[in-house]
Amino acid sequence: MRRLEVGIVGTGYVGLVTGACLAHLGHSVVCVDIDREKVESLSRGEVPIYEPGLEEVVGGALRQERISFTTDLPATVERVDVLFIAVSTPPGEDGAADLSNVASVAREIGASLARRGEKSPLVVVNKSTVPVGSGDYVSMLIEEGAEGRDVSYYVVSNPEFLREGSAVYDTLFPDRIVIGTDSREASEAMRELYAPIIEQSFPTSYDPRPKAAVPFIVTDLASAEMIKYAANAFLATKISFINEVAAICDLVGADVTNVAHGIGLDSRIGSRFLSAGIGWGGSCFPKDVSALRSIAREYDYESTILDAVVAVNDRQLKQVVSKLQRELHTLKGKRVALLGLTFKPNTDDMREAPSLKIARTLDSLGARVVGYDPVATGPASEAVPQMKVVTDPYAALSGAHAAVVVTEWDEVRNLDPKQVAGLMAAPKLVVDGRNVLDPASVEERGLLYRGFGRG
Ligand code: UDX
Repeated sequence: MRRLEVGIVGTGYVGLVTGACLAHLGHSVVCVDIDREKVESLSRGEVPIYEPGLEEVVGGALRQERISFTTDLPATVERVDVLFIAVSTPPGEDGAADLSNVASVAREIGASLARRGEKSPLVVVNKSTVPVGSGDYVSMLIEEGAEGRDVSYYVVSNPEFLREGSAVYDTLFPDRIVIGTDSREASEAMRELYAPIIEQSFPTSYDPRPKAAVPFIVTDLASAEMIKYAANAFLATKISFINEVAAICDLVGADVTNVAHGIGLDSRIGSRFLSAGIGWGGSCFPKDVSALRSIAREYDYESTILDAVVAVNDRQLKQVVSKLQRELHTLKGKRVALLGLTFKPNTDDMREAPSLKIARTLDSLGARVVGYDPVATGPASEAVPQMKVVTDPYAALSGAHAAVVVTEWDEVRNLDPKQVAGLMAAPKLVVDGRNVLDPASVEERGLLYRGFGRG
């Protein structure tokens, strides 16, 4: 493989994982961030996010001198062959993605491009999730930054599909790589960059390798941008769909886990993302679904399906409260333990975590809320100061009238029902918001079990 000089702007989730993995493949990577302190701590190998395997990959790349961190974007633009924009695009008040970070980076790239001299055109890669049409917008901003000077570059879209908690794995073993560009030279540069992943030829301790080869898809810019939104919206739809089925299962006395198993074996449906429960949260689904709805609205198109997907997801949270109210009658003065606070296991991310909304609602109804999480204790108590956050699940359960499994951490799945029953106060209600407990063995110990769609 040819070793490329790669720049990554933004050392958040996507930027840092992408940079570390590209360095692991053998490229020479420089990561740029405006946060000087973060740059210094990353240079020492201190990874600010909880992501399995990431610290090892960053550490390995630092030792091999394949990765470095800087605040100097202009010098990076002058040096690299490929430059990723991986800054955040948070939702604005109207749900549309806020592109101000992308815009200021693009302008600065434009301003520095003229100094690249005779080097081949810079391949600028949009890795941030941006509205359809943003590729052209980035080109416009680069030109604006260049102020009439002659600059040569390509803008490419390369959407990101990694999941938090398995971000390194997903980057090295993706289901596909999608590139949006109308330039052959740019798509060839991207193919070269990803060659070790496409051919699965990089060193790995996975034996056997999970993938033989990875499809590399080249399409136009707008379609690549749309693929990202459509993929996330489809997955959110799949979850809301099974949650709708779960609600009907509850009415007719069926068990949604059996139903999901039965439909998932149909290869046209597939068994993944059919776990019913509290619903979807996190940094991507809520943001991307609302951005896609807002893109459609700009064209006077109201997405009936996505509106329903969001409505079902909102309803799931209300169901947690109504399940508690049904068994506890009033929530006033009742102690409720929330087990698992991050939006999903194996991450410390609290963005759009269902636990926060549940905690706030329960508090407003007069309940005493105690939260347990194996990693995110600090951010959780900051976000909801009324909630007492503890680091021992049994301490959270002690004296609790009800417990809600909000996030299916192993530490929560593996709680000992006998010990839990001994600690809780009547009616010892367990609302299994992720359908991960075995109802029979929980009830055997004298706990009252309520799942989602389990009849
Ligand atoms: C998601 C996409 O999976 C990823 O491809 C994209 O790049 C970013 O968004 P992530 O947000 O990390 O990744 O989490 P994911 O594992 O997809 O879960 C999203 C939410 O859906 C979580 O709140 C999870 O609890 C929920 N979920 C997932 C369900 O409720 N049921 C399921 O069956 C699967």
